[in-house]
Amino acid sequence: GGAIRSFRSLSGVQPTMTVDEQVECEQAVLRSPLFHDALRRHAGDVDPSLVMVDIWSAGNYGADEESTLRLARPLCFLRRDATDNGYARPLEGIRPVVDLNRMEVIRVEEHGNWPVPEASGNYAANRVEDQRNNIKPIEISQPQGPSFTVVGRHVSWQKWSFVVGFNAREGLTLHHIRYRDGERDRPVIYRASLTEMVVPYGDPGPTQARKNAFDVGEYGMGMCANSLKLGCDCLGHIHYFDADLCTSRGEPLKIQNAICMHEEDFGILWKHTDRRLPDSPEVRRSRRLVISSVSTVKNYEYGFFWYLYQDGNIQLEVKLTGILSLGSYPAGQKPAHGMLVAPNLYAPNHQHFFNVRLDFDLDGMANTVQQIDVVADPVSPDNPFGNAFRARSTPLTSEKMARAHLSLETGRTWKVINPSVKNHVGEPVGYRFLPGDNALPFASADAWWRKRARFVDYHVWVTPFQESENYAAGDYPNQSIGGDGLIQWTEQDRPIENTDVVFWYTFGHTHLPRPEDYPVMPTAYIGFLLKPAGFFNINPANDVPPSPAKAVGRDCCELAMVIPPPHELGIG
Ligand code: CU
Repeated sequence: GGAIRSFRSLSGVQPTMTVDEQVECEQAVLRSPLFHDALRRHAGDVDPSLVMVDIWSAGNYGADEESTLRLARPLCFLRRDATDNGYARPLEGIRPVVDLNRMEVIRVEEHGNWPVPEASGNYAANRVEDQRNNIKPIEISQPQGPSFTVVGRHVSWQKWSFVVGFNAREGLTLHHIRYRDGERDRPVIYRASLTEMVVPYGDPGPTQARKNAFDVGEYGMGMCANSLKLGCDCLGHIHYFDADLCTSRGEPLKIQNAICMHEEDFGILWKHTDRRLPDSPEVRRSRRLVISSVSTVKNYEYGFFWYLYQDGNIQLEVKLTGILSLGSYPAGQKPAHGMLVAPNLYAPNHQHFFNVRLDFDLDGMANTVQQIDVVADPVSPDNPFGNAFRARSTPLTSEKMARAHLSLETGRTWKVINPSVKNHVGEPVGYRFLPGDNALPFASADAWWRKRARFVDYHVWVTPFQESENYAAGDYPNQSIGGDGLIQWTEQDRPIENTDVVFWYTFGHTHLPRPEDYPVMPTAYIGFLLKPAGFFNINPANDVPPSPAKAVGRDCCELAMVIPPPHELGIG
């Protein structure tokens, strides 16, 4: 409408760092005489144009400047040449401190003398010799095109429909996820998003102790998104969506092909062999729809892959790859808080915590979350063999009660139900939340970063929908003193039963680096799965037809043996 709809002036907080600040911060360091002097002291007479400067957030450790200035504490690296992997050669002892509003280095902190690792650590195709040469092509062809249709940002795929969103902070978001079930177009999730991340490092040394990146609230996962134009790793028929963002100065910033969508074959969907029937087995191929985006946050890459399946499953898989955050280390010493990945090259232990917000709308807004624990029955006259166990379901009624950790002892899962919509056996319709790999934070609860990331205190949180509650560490985690976000909201202990609930899940990946993670890290995976549990009356993928027959004349089951029934064999 050409009008400003709202404008609020805020004080005492720092917004997310922007993509133009990343570039300008590097330039500010590279033109600083203070930095040139320090560089000479630490690396000798080297060409400053080979230095790479990565903006790193300053955090808040109680110093005045952290509450009054907009700061960055970049990490610096020294390339051998313009296309060298500079991360292999950290300038460990130098830590410039940059005022991002003045875009000026205010001082350079120096922490002793550290070797600059000698060896190169390259991974680019034009720098790796002896590449394997026995890989034949795999082609995925979809001669009739994909099975999805796209209108603007609205996608329909088989029985699923949803809207694709994207913003500078969260990156990829999914909205209005629905499943067509007969005559009913059934809502499942209203909005799904990554709300925060933090990567705390576990080394107490002066050059490493302040490293804890809030990749969403400090750097902007969407802001750091890749343009997938030059070759997304997706095979098949790809549909791309662009992202429309802006710079810190309000200039438009378009990331072309920021989101990739395609279909993937995913092995067997279901199968059964009835050995009494000649045309058995029945087998169906599983196909999933992949909606993905990849962000480069300095050295690290994060891929966010949402999958929709034909059986009603919804999955998020985060792919962690890229380059370790490396430091240098004196020869002949063994680091206590990490691993040498190459001579003089050190990778500190760290964790990656993600928080995802799932605003459920199962068949309507009024939903309840249940915590499901599997418990064994005591041995008794009713359970004489001691084999009995049951699922104990606890409806979560208030926010504090809902705060919980995973529990291997009880195989804990969660179930979101709509108490007023029943399935054909009279149970409320539901979706089960199945956690994947996870971790607890190893840093002390008093660690500075943890005050700002209280969302790591529990794996699961449930809140009643509030339009203003979107980010697990609060709206402005950059340089915050903490205490904001989930921990603050849920202190109200609001009722969460039979209302518009939001389910928040925190999941952590503990990364003890290996030499095999260097020079570039093979992808690590972490995520969760949502599975219909009484949402449908039967397997919703029962109606998937067999795949077309292949060249051999029959479908893929032709090698199955038909065994005569027992009476024909003279047994049974
Ligand atoms: Cu890692």
